[in-house]
Amino acid sequence: MTSPLRNYLRDDNLSPDEQADVLRLGDLLSKDRFARRPLAGPRAVAVIFDKPTLRTQVSFTTGIVELGGYPLVVDGNLAQIGTRESISDVAHVIGRQVAAIVWRTHAQARAEEMAAVAGVPVVNALTDDFHPCQVLADLLTVAQHRGGVETLPGTTLAYVGDGSNNMAHSYLLGGATAGMHVRIGTPEGFAPNPAIVADARRIAAATGGSVSVHGDRDAALDGADAVATDTWVSMGQESQAADRAEPFVPFRLDAEGLAKAAPGALVLHCLPAYRGKEITAEVLDGPQSVVWDEAENRLHAQKALLTFLLEEA
Ligand code: NVA
Repeated sequence: MTSPLRNYLRDDNLSPDEQADVLRLGDLLSKDRFARRPLAGPRAVAVIFDKPTLRTQVSFTTGIVELGGYPLVVDGNLAQIGTRESISDVAHVIGRQVAAIVWRTHAQARAEEMAAVAGVPVVNALTDDFHPCQVLADLLTVAQHRGGVETLPGTTLAYVGDGSNNMAHSYLLGGATAGMHVRIGTPEGFAPNPAIVADARRIAAATGGSVSVHGDRDAALDGADAVATDTWVSMGQESQAADRAEPFVPFRLDAEGLAKAAPGALVLHCLPAYRGKEITAEVLDGPQSVVWDEAENRLHAQKALLTFLLEEA
């Protein structure tokens, strides 16, 4: 009997045990790059971009090659999925030819529609609502710097900045799945989606983690083991840039804020970073920053995820 098709559209598509397995495999692959070859053939994986990319294109294409496969990068501007032809028709066409589909797009519903029809695993490479591959990389980074995947439960992760964006939502779900205490510090009007907070609370109740949302930066950062932030203007929000310039200033991750966290707290940022906006250069480029490990771990975590979805799910 073949196992049911699995997707990774949001962080809680992996159970706590599955997430830990993927992170352990990611750690192994970081030390032995060619240990797993689930795409040997080579089989193709479609990697589709409806939004800009650097890390995601580099890490998925490199990772798919290292897994023995062929990365078929599709420019969303050429494909015009949902405009030139329906998502469903595209899913039928692509799904018959590739081993998996990796898609960076706008609405979460688009990724869900693709997954419903494709017949192969679909991976969310960022939507307006979630960036679950990034949070896998972040969790792997925290684990590696704190002594292993087993150390994640009980660790406090504080995210300050835009609480309503994809990173905040993925920290909530992914962190809760890992049994972490997830704190979001964000100004009024930018709170996370309440339904996602509720989902994260439900997960945390089972994993021993917790979830809290703070209207004060330092309350979120207080004693945290890892601190994170992200741009105040996500892709697709460029027209709101002026309105978003002021509200987040008190939530900037600067040296004073970092001093509120635990001594030696790890500094995370998914990048691209805007020094002097959401984070100061002193912090981003400082001794507690692990952002380059974090960016490299996109490769290892995503290879582990694809291996899991293709071979172990
Ligand atoms: N919140 C950011 C993440 C970039 C990797 C965005 O969506 O633009």
